[in-house]
Amino acid sequence: MSKLIGILTSGGDTPGLNSAIRAVGKTLLHEGGYTLIGFLDGFRGLMENRYVELNDSYLSGIITRGGTILGSSRDKPHKMPVGGKIMDMTDVIVENYYSNNLSGLVCLGGGGTQKNSYRLAKAGLNILTLPKTIDNDIVHTEVSFGYDTAMMIATEAVDRLHSTASSHHRIIILETMGHKVGWLALGSGLAGGADVILLPEFPYDEQVIADAILRRSREGKRFSIVVVAEGAISKTMAKIREEEGGEEKVELMLKTRTAELAKTLEQMTGRETRVTILGYVQRGGTPTPYDRMLSTALGSRCAIEIMKDKWGSMMAFQHNKIVPVALEKVAGPVKYIPTDHYLVESARKIGVCLGA
Ligand code: F6P
Repeated sequence: MSKLIGILTSGGDTPGLNSAIRAVGKTLLHEGGYTLIGFLDGFRGLMENRYVELNDSYLSGIITRGGTILGSSRDKPHKMPVGGKIMDMTDVIVENYYSNNLSGLVCLGGGGTQKNSYRLAKAGLNILTLPKTIDNDIVHTEVSFGYDTAMMIATEAVDRLHSTASSHHRIIILETMGHKVGWLALGSGLAGGADVILLPEFPYDEQVIADAILRRSREGKRFSIVVVAEGAISKTMAKIREEEGGEEKVELMLKTRTAELAKTLEQMTGRETRVTILGYVQRGGTPTPYDRMLSTALGSRCAIEIMKDKWGSMMAFQHNKIVPVALEKVAGPVKYIPTDHYLVESARKIGVCLGA
């Protein structure tokens, strides 16, 4: 068996990717005498056989760097844009894996990457993965790296919006990322003291939100902060989603949802309303200490798995331990916020309006 391992980062970038690469690399190089090569731009680089050798100097000084030193893309092995067409390039990827004489491949990514990695494992490759995403929607791990940094950025935004909303007696709506789940909105909304938090898991009613804001006005509170997850939908949209072709219609509606919500709340409450869409700033910059620690622990545990020649799993964080979980269990399902989650319950108890 060769001692050559490949690594790649796939999907949206996330703070903590470089510290994870560093931990996999340092453990493999120093403890196991392996060679590590990094494929560039995710699965595309593996398909085009573009890589760099990740020697000691490559792995030094990167723990604080955001993004990924390897570059990333959303290209999937089985649906790769090539020459203007979408092609299944799995065979080329498998061929490159063998022609490079790799003994294994480590894929760092979110939910989509877990699915694509599992496909490659089924095609016969030795695969291990690490969970990265600001959305925190990967199952079987309590947390993914990147989430803590994004939480810090979004919470700071909620904090800062308080003073301007209060000065102008306005409603300010902050839209966070999070794809189809509400972890980022719930966490930052709760930590930042938002008055209304809207999550994809609980479709909202505009009248319920307006009533909560008007109640605050009667109590003498002349501003309100609304945190809305990018995937949150109204009850009306939830009904549309159930119709034929509804999924696409709702996707379209989501593009203007926050602006529409602002208009509706302004009409219903008579309060001037403004919108802030936080966007990619949530994924940028240096990782928090927690994300550096988590990604380092996941990365070094992954290297140990490689040294034991054990494959086909994602390193997960469960009950204060890093454990491997079979890829077939993590590929596919999405970790939504359960209705009875303790953060949802405490939000309700302290009087946060969840829109329903
Ligand atoms: O999965 C991370 C994420 O930032 C989501 O929160 C967001 O919906 C999506 O990626 C944005 O994707 P892209 O980088 O392709 O625009």
